[in-house]
Amino acid sequence: MPIGTPVRTSLRGSSRDSSRAGPIETHLRLLERSDEIVIAVDEQIGAVVGFITAITDRVLSAYIPFLEVLPEYRGRGIGSELVRRMLERLAGLYMVDVLCDEEVLPFYQKLGMRRAKGAMLRNREYQSGTGR
Ligand SMILES: CC(C)(COP(=O)(O)OP(=O)(O)OC[C@H]1O[C@@H](n2cnc3c(N)ncnc32)[C@H](O)[C@@H]1OP(=O)(O)O)[C@@H](O)C(=O)NCCC(=O)NCCS
Repeated sequence: MPIGTPVRTSLRGSSRDSSRAGPIETHLRLLERSDEIVIAVDEQIGAVVGFITAITDRVLSAYIPFLEVLPEYRGRGIGSELVRRMLERLAGLYMVDVLCDEEVLPFYQKLGMRRAKGAMLRNREYQSGTGR
């Protein structure tokens, strides 16, 4: 499993609520099966406080399906650092895509990404990871 070098933080304070992150097994499986991951660890409490994943063919393209920082850790530059480190890992590829809500677009634009149009399909019945 290509575990990314953790983004180390020395930040204090956490209210870990596993229900917010979804079932732990599903989360572990999606990390294991991703081609690249980078995690942010709060070393004071030994907990993961943010993560980013990517799927790539390692030839031309990559897609970033998940990026999340725990709410109490947001606004401290962790999300930006996760994206920067992931883009470093994906360097040399022609295309790196991410789908996001309109309000998150400025976050990605600050990191050098551009607005684009896209299309998507969501099978809500498989949202918990039971389809595969
Ligand atoms: C999006 C997210 C990962 C950002 O993480 P973060 O650690 O708070 O980001 P940073 O602290 O690095 O913020 C960097 C900049 O982006 C801005 N920013 C962060 N989140 C933003 C948002 N949701 N909308 C608009 N701007 C945002 C910050 O204000 C900051 O601006 P500044 O440099 O002018 O101060 C985090 O808000 C999150 O986990 N959101 C819920 C999940 C989500 O939306 N993920 C993206 C899926 S595509």
